Amino acid sequence: MTPDEVVLRPLRWWDIADAHALEVQLFPDTWSQEVFWSELAAPGRCYVVVQDPGGALLGYAGLAVTGTQADVQTIAVAPSAQGRGLGAVLLDALLAAALDAGATSVMLEVRADNAGAINLYRRAGFEQIAVRRRYYQPGDVDALIMRLRAVQSPSQVVTTTPSVRPVWC
Ligand SMILES: CC(C)(COP(=O)(O)OP(=O)(O)OC[C@H]1O[C@@H](n2cnc3c(N)ncnc32)[C@H](O)[C@@H]1OP(=O)(O)O)[C@@H](O)C(=O)NCCC(=O)NCCS
Repeated sequence: MTPDEVVLRPLRWWDIADAHALEVQLFPDTWSQEVFWSELAAPGRCYVVVQDPGGALLGYAGLAVTGTQADVQTIAVAPSAQGRGLGAVLLDALLAAALDAGATSVMLEVRADNAGAINLYRRAGFEQIAVRRRYYQPGDVDALIMRLRAVQSPSQVVTTTPSVRPVWC
């Protein structure tokens, strides 16, 4: 499934069970379904999904905006759909939502051993600004704090594929 074949849309409550099933596959420190519910209910949140034309959930991502600051809360693509540009589609959608909400910078935390995600963020212009030593347990894995400054150019965040243009939350 490539970016021009998927549907990008807001994550709704009826997606939570499927998103949680992906979450369990992908993250060692798994969010419960209750965390998804509370994230959707919280102010300033933007959650999006990509699905295949048949409606199967392929990935999801979330953003929290407070004033001019935004934070990437999560981003995940199903193992069978990784490496085809869907993570970049989801991240573009979050950055578009951040821009739309008036955020001027976007921050995130990522495991220092997650090379794929770090590349995804660097590709979008994020830079490492700090390290939290032994932040992730178990395993004593460092957290890298990354920031994208100056979320201001539409060309930075608009995907080239018409069918997956960012949605505003
Ligand atoms: C990180 C994740 C969201 C990336 O999704 P994806 O759909 O595979 O990523 P894309 O295909 O859109 O790749 C976009 C860019 O990310 C980078 N990237 C993604 N996966 C990579 C990998 N395994 N190794 C190296 N670079 C990778 C590349 O720079 C790639 O650009 P390129 O193809 O032009 O080189 C996905 O691997 C995932 O869900 N991982 C498990 C959950 C996770 O770790 N989330 C991040 C938490 S901070």
